[in-house]
Amino acid sequence: MASFLCYLMSIRLLFLIPLLHAIATNCFASRQPVLCHDDESSALLQFKQSFHWNLNSCFDPSDYPPKISSWKVEGVDTDCCSWDGVECNEETGHVIGLDLSSSCLYGSMLSNSSLFSLVHLRRLNLAYNHFNSSQIPSGFSRLSGLTYLNLSSSSFSGQIPINISVLSKLTFLDLSNNFKLHLRSLQGLVQNLTRLKDLSLKYVQISSPVPEILGNLSCLRTLYLTGCGLHGEFPPGIFKLPNLQDLRVVSNPDLMGYLPEFHSSSPLKILSLAGTSFSGKLPDSIGNLNSLNALWTGKCNFSGHIPSSLGFDQHMDNFPWSQLQILDLRSNMLQALPQIPPPSTVVYLVADNMLQGEVSPLICKLSSLHSLDLSNNKFRGTLPHCLSSFSNSLSILNLQGNNFHGTIPQLCAKGSRMKIIDMSQNQFEGLLPRSLSNCKTLEILNLGSNQLNDVFPSWLGTLSELRVLILRRNGLYGVVGSPTTIFASPNLHILDLSSNKFTGKLTFEYFQSWKYMKKINADNFTYMLEFTSIQSCGFTVYQYYPYSMTITSKGREMMYSKIIEVFADIDLSSNEFSGKVSEFIGNLNSLQLLNLSNNNLTGHIPLSLGDLTTLESLDLSQNKLSGRIPWQLTQLTFLESFNVSHNQLTGLIPHGNQFDTFENSSFAGNLGLCGNPLSKKCENHEQAPLPSSGIKEVQDSWFHIEFDWKIILLGYVSGLIIGVVVGNVVTEKMQCWFVRT
Ligand SMILES: *[C@@H]1O[C@H](CO)[C@@H](O)[C@H](O)[C@H]1NC(C)=O
Ligand SMILES: *[C@@H]1O[C@H](CO)[C@@H](O)[C@H](O)[C@H]1NC(C)=O
Ligand SMILES: *[C@@H]1O[C@H](CO)[C@@H](O)[C@H](O)[C@H]1NC(C)=O
Ligand SMILES: *[C@@H]1O[C@H](CO)[C@@H](O)[C@H](O)[C@H]1NC(C)=O
Ligand SMILES: *[C@@H]1O[C@H](CO)[C@@H](O)[C@H](O)[C@H]1NC(C)=O
Ligand SMILES: *[C@@H]1O[C@H](CO)[C@@H](O)[C@H](O)[C@H]1NC(C)=O
Ligand SMILES: *[C@@H]1O[C@H](CO)[C@@H](O)[C@H](O)[C@H]1NC(C)=O
Ligand SMILES: *[C@@H]1O[C@H](CO)[C@@H](O)[C@H](O)[C@H]1NC(C)=O
Ligand SMILES: *[C@@H]1O[C@H](CO)[C@@H](O)[C@H](O)[C@H]1NC(C)=O
Ligand SMILES: *[C@@H]1O[C@H](CO)[C@@H](O)[C@H](O)[C@H]1NC(C)=O
Ligand SMILES: *[C@@H]1O[C@H](CO)[C@@H](O)[C@H](O)[C@H]1NC(C)=O
Ligand SMILES: *[C@@H]1O[C@H](CO)[C@@H](O)[C@H](O)[C@H]1NC(C)=O
Repeated sequence: MASFLCYLMSIRLLFLIPLLHAIATNCFASRQPVLCHDDESSALLQFKQSFHWNLNSCFDPSDYPPKISSWKVEGVDTDCCSWDGVECNEETGHVIGLDLSSSCLYGSMLSNSSLFSLVHLRRLNLAYNHFNSSQIPSGFSRLSGLTYLNLSSSSFSGQIPINISVLSKLTFLDLSNNFKLHLRSLQGLVQNLTRLKDLSLKYVQISSPVPEILGNLSCLRTLYLTGCGLHGEFPPGIFKLPNLQDLRVVSNPDLMGYLPEFHSSSPLKILSLAGTSFSGKLPDSIGNLNSLNALWTGKCNFSGHIPSSLGFDQHMDNFPWSQLQILDLRSNMLQALPQIPPPSTVVYLVADNMLQGEVSPLICKLSSLHSLDLSNNKFRGTLPHCLSSFSNSLSILNLQGNNFHGTIPQLCAKGSRMKIIDMSQNQFEGLLPRSLSNCKTLEILNLGSNQLNDVFPSWLGTLSELRVLILRRNGLYGVVGSPTTIFASPNLHILDLSSNKFTGKLTFEYFQSWKYMKKINADNFTYMLEFTSIQSCGFTVYQYYPYSMTITSKGREMMYSKIIEVFADIDLSSNEFSGKVSEFIGNLNSLQLLNLSNNNLTGHIPLSLGDLTTLESLDLSQNKLSGRIPWQLTQLTFLESFNVSHNQLTGLIPHGNQFDTFENSSFAGNLGLCGNPLSKKCENHEQAPLPSSGIKEVQDSWFHIEFDWKIILLGYVSGLIIGVVVGNVVTEKMQCWFVRT
């Protein structure tokens, strides 16, 4: 019996042994995959050796040391399939994927590069390297198995070799952000790439029209042709591609086109045509784009009324674009619009059109709204008072340049995140809303050119982030006196209180905490922007909202469509300020514009004005200033506009540097002034103002010249020195949106 049992067991074991063996070999096989092929391994090493890398060649220092630096033939990791960035086929051992993006590679890519012997490659990413402006070698065309090719942001230049088009298996091609790259024929490139899903040629200079054949790439999901210098007519068939979700042809000013009829089956989520010459009407069927998430048509030439599918009478709840987050229709010629976009809207920008009508209280239901810009249209009526309880998500409110009247609602509830409020150039009247003191994050407040009637808002002193305060051209009155903390905001650098009825002594000591003014780095030419990022349907959308304003500069009313960070301006003109201008003013030494004209100021012109070395415009006209024009002002070599007319100044007008360029109307109306450029000559006893004793060297040389200023005048070739302010005036008001997946 026992032996029988043993027999049975041994039989079982006999069955088990091959099973165990099979398991063992399988485990063994999965532990030891096929090794990398020698020829491919050495091709990779040769490729590695053809480039340099160091910390300076990295886009981002955190990319250092790059993946490629660990590739070695000695030591443990001799198998190239285990190298960082290398992917092999598990069965054949061939290299099928290479991801060397952001690898700090620097050097030219040559046509004999060993890379092109890796003929089994399917995915190749060399984005974010620096290929030293070399051409894209035509050798890429030998990698016939490629399905993914990403050469974006890699400093390639020259013509794209047209036989890249033989890579007919490509589904993904990104050659974007190589700013010196050219493409002779878009048709030639894509006609064989019928499987493309994603095509990005951003900033590649394309000298051909957009071919109809793009409309045959039925797999296409995303198409980016931003900033390609395209011209001609955009083929409408592209809009109808059955899988197209994301189409961006931004910033092609010569590209014409119109919008076709859209079907409700269209999967379009993002449509960006901003900065093109697309024209005509927005078709009624645009309302069929059920999936639409973002629409940018800023700075195009669309006209007419908004389609009835989106009209005034459309109830919010059945508004067609239920997933819309961004609607930017700025700078077109639209006459009527959906005033109230769907509740999902985050950004609503319709500035610079010809829109009319009143703002409906329904707008207060947009609880996700971040930016609202209705500026420069023909909106009228009063603002709905529900704006006072508007969602705290709002951070940009721009209603500038309309015909609104009535009082300004109590904006900013507690916890508000408001950054920009611009209500200028309307007919608002009454008091300033006291709730503004809740806008703790406010950076820009512009209520200029209205009919507001109130005392100076010293209660705004709580706004420590304030950078720009413009209250010009209103009926504001009273003393801007102590105690006021408003000027204590360390970042304030644009203050315009001109053309009101403010009175009292002008106390420049109030400005002593203007730290911003004192630390300004004049080489910093960045613009003032409101920057936000918005998450939408898997994308992060970066919104840059440049701030614009109208002020008086160098005697002219000017619209600054962008403002550089370092711009600093104090305009207190046309009020009833009195008292002396103290020497303290010399501490605000980054000022570019100072206008104190048309007040009731007395005393001397402070010598310390000579310390305002970046000053470009100084207007002290129409006051009661007396004494001489300080010689120190000739040190202001950026001074382009100077006016002390209609005061009680005396003595010889200084000369030298910019002073030789000012016309005589700058000095008119001062009975005691004499010398060029006035026709009144000086009497012998009238002497030029003397430099202050503090500046010894200059004083000595001055005395040697013995006031024969005509000689200096001849020897000095003067010219207008164009300063920083000119850099502010940018003619186009371009919206800047950067979007990346
Ligand atoms: C970069 O390109 C220049 C000009 O073609 C060439 O002289 C230089 O050797 C290249 N540098 C590298 C590292 O390839
Ligand atoms: C490629 O050609 C250059 C000269 O054009 C030569 O210096 C280099 O060694 C070649 N590289 C390979 C891998 O053959
Ligand atoms: C190309 O590669 C870079 C770096 O990996 C990546 O950031 C970029 O998104 C890729 N392009 C696209 C369109 O996916
Ligand atoms: C692409 O063109 C280059 C020369 O212009 C040539 O050497 C290469 O063989 C071509 N590639 C294919 C796949 O025909
Ligand atoms: C497109 O493909 C066809 C057939 O595969 C080939 O004959 C033709 O040369 C290709 N065209 C281009 C521009 O590569
Ligand atoms: C593009 O598609 C249309 C019809 O869908 C066809 O008539 C045309 O020949 C195609 N063009 C090319 C170049 O394949
Ligand atoms: C815009 O459209 C109008 C007609 O609607 C036309 O007169 C004008 O020339 C167009 N402007 C541009 C820049 O295309
Ligand atoms: C320029 O100014 C901006 C804002 O003040 C600051 O964020 C940036 O770092 C400055 N850039 C330089 C180069 O100083
Ligand atoms: C100063 O302001 C007055 C109005 O208040 C204006 O007329 C004048 O042009 C301004 N001066 C300069 C130089 O901008
Ligand atoms: C200007 O100041 C003088 C005193 O210096 C005063 O008498 C006069 O009323 C003031 N004028 C205005 C308009 O404030
Ligand atoms: C100076 O100001 C007066 C008025 O205050 C004005 O008439 C004159 O044109 C101005 N001159 C210059 C050069 O700006
Ligand atoms: C200003 O100059 C013109 C000639 O250039 C002269 O006719 C006029 O009298 C001068 N005005 C004054 C106030 O000196």
